[in-house]
Amino acid sequence: MTERKAILTIDGEDTPIVLNVYPATLGQDVIDVSPVLGRGYFTFDQGFASTASTESKITYIDGDKGILMHRGYPIEELAEKSDYLETCFLILNGELPNAKEKVDFQNIIRTHTMLNRSVESFFSGFRYDAHPMAILCGAVGAMSSFYHDSLDINDPHHRMITAHRLIAKMPTLAAMCHKHFIGQPYMYPDNSLGYSENFLHMMFGNPCEEKEINPVVAKAVDKLFLLHADHEQNASTSTVRLAGSSGANPFSCVAAGIAALWGPAHGGANQAVLEMLKQIGDVKHIDNFVKRAKDKDDPFRLMGFGHRVYKNFDPRAVVMKKTCDAVLGELGLFDDPLLKIAKRLETIALEDEYFVEKKLYPNVDFYSGIIMKAIGIPTEMFTAIFATGRTVGWISHWNEMISNPYRIGRPRQLYTGPLKREYVPVDQRG
Ligand code: SDX
Repeated sequence: MTERKAILTIDGEDTPIVLNVYPATLGQDVIDVSPVLGRGYFTFDQGFASTASTESKITYIDGDKGILMHRGYPIEELAEKSDYLETCFLILNGELPNAKEKVDFQNIIRTHTMLNRSVESFFSGFRYDAHPMAILCGAVGAMSSFYHDSLDINDPHHRMITAHRLIAKMPTLAAMCHKHFIGQPYMYPDNSLGYSENFLHMMFGNPCEEKEINPVVAKAVDKLFLLHADHEQNASTSTVRLAGSSGANPFSCVAAGIAALWGPAHGGANQAVLEMLKQIGDVKHIDNFVKRAKDKDDPFRLMGFGHRVYKNFDPRAVVMKKTCDAVLGELGLFDDPLLKIAKRLETIALEDEYFVEKKLYPNVDFYSGIIMKAIGIPTEMFTAIFATGRTVGWISHWNEMISNPYRIGRPRQLYTGPLKREYVPVDQRG
């Protein structure tokens, strides 16, 4: 392929800056702007909307066409034909597993679900009503203290065992957060169960009685995990990569990703959607809230709407909506008042010129909360579920970075602070 160049001419500069253009296999080609430093400039892109921070082969998103693919497989196909653990294998290793690989991977994950007993005492240090994301941040970061035998980030085997441990133990940790919150005994994993069934067992089971797991609910949880598995260089994944670029251990990098995900503009939106729907309370109040969302002077936003990349439907939201209907139908909750408000809100927003003009569509978080509420998952656990599903994406991006040549991430800035000035002793200040 012929090498393409971009020519940057700057007022007052005689010689233009010649920049290389690198081709993508899909989506936008990139302009390597690093030479501008040699000419005394930085590039400026607040929020990194136009910045490719890295090269990756894991996930591709086309925001205008509403396309999401993991290692080339469209999310709609994976959601319909695959399952969460198989998708984890794909995202982590780059290919779908064959029959033996699939069974071996299930067994590897199944045999790493337990946590060291000391972790339980770690939980007792948290207030009874600590937010699950506060606990997850701490607990996942602390996990590095249990695995000194496999923290050599340059050893591919250590990287893989760590990935397996994180994928396997996140559901156990998340369920423990819930049990801690409601003051019930922790449930040990039951390794005779599948990944998502086991999560429901640890979330809703108790030592006093057998708890039947509804297969429709288990399938919905598996789909929730799958739809949240990875999403390119989003805020939390970029945080994991930046933390990892310093050579920090993978558990602390994932803990940093959990912290970034917690924000309501990111993974915390699913909890914020439910709280918003409850605040709206009745379809007759929707117009007022839509009016507020459009008011520049009102900080209120329609949670679950809009996306930095998708300027069309979020393909995950389309699948999530179908799953929502299936779960509510199975549980006989079709007249769930919050679902009614959500569907009416979606219709109104999609017809309103403000949302149409700004291309604000429902995103992955809009319907996921309604599914989780229908399953009986408390609102404060929603983002912990998102984090559990996203762990494979975080650790796969971390592994991709560490497996290839990388440098510590160190962005610069546009400084607009004070010029140099002399220190004034305090008794001479005004
Ligand atoms: C996730 O990046 C990822 O991939 C994230 C994610 C993943 O899987 O990792 O997909 C998961 O985080 C989904 C997004 C969940 N967040 C929410 O639902 C919170 C509500 N949405 C917004 O806060 C917002 O849309 C963002 C944060 C999602 C995107 O913000 P951007 O890209 O910075 O867009 P913006 O804030 O510049 O908005 C553009 C315009 C603005 O109006 P103008 O200043 O141009 O006049 O649209 C308006 C905004 O005011 N706008 C909204 C709105 N979202 C954007 N107005 C009302 N309600 C909203 N929800």
